[in-house]
Amino acid sequence: MQIGIFETSEEASAAAARGVVDLLARKPNATLGVATGSTPEGLYSELREAHAAGRFTLEGSAAFALDEYVGIADGHPEKYRNVLRRELVGPEKTGLTEAGLRTPVSSDADPHLAAGQYEASIAAAGGVDLQILGIGANGHIGFNEPGGSLVSRTRVEVLSRRTRTDNARFFDGDVGKVPSRCITQGLGTIMEARSLLLLAFGAQKAEAVRQLIEGAISAKWPATVAQMHPDLTVFVDAEAAELL
Ligand code: GLP
Repeated sequence: MQIGIFETSEEASAAAARGVVDLLARKPNATLGVATGSTPEGLYSELREAHAAGRFTLEGSAAFALDEYVGIADGHPEKYRNVLRRELVGPEKTGLTEAGLRTPVSSDADPHLAAGQYEASIAAAGGVDLQILGIGANGHIGFNEPGGSLVSRTRVEVLSRRTRTDNARFFDGDVGKVPSRCITQGLGTIMEARSLLLLAFGAQKAEAVRQLIEGAISAKWPATVAQMHPDLTVFVDAEAAELL
């Protein structure tokens, strides 16, 4: 595990963006795994700047989302496909194409079937080269909530009350508007990415970061499974590092 502790989230995001640009220099058309939530917003902003400066393009790449809500309208601004579209898709963003952005098709009548198809599509693309991750305050990655299998595959998952409360800020502050189910890549699926880059910012992530880096591997803190990954990089800001 490589750990980078930065004074600010901006510095950590800039360093993370350099890692992505370096990867694409070594391996043009590399496949990314992309997280949503607030944490990677700074990284995506840095990537848009680097793309505008001509330092890389995702034009020939695929980017697989970690997860998607089930039971959210296609046009809803918080549907993760729409969030990632706004952040990454288009020649004025990172060059990623609409077809290159891959998200679980959670509007399918059978989300369990859609989850299996999504898992298969990641394998068919040759797997993920670099998976960008955030972390929930309860230690979830993707939407793999505490207590689940550490070797799970892509599936339908019920969101914990804590996660729905945390995400209510994206839904007018109303936890009742936060979908209760999602499709998420499993921990086993995420662990197959060739490299993992996990970002965590702010004091509310400090305990999850402590568990990730110093805790025992346990389903109580799902992110701890990443300790087993041969190429894990963790970039945190000073606040998220305060319990280390
Ligand atoms: C969300 C997402 C995760 C994300 C995490 C942290 O619910 N499903 O992929 O990493 O929770 O979110 P944030 O970065 O907004 O704190």
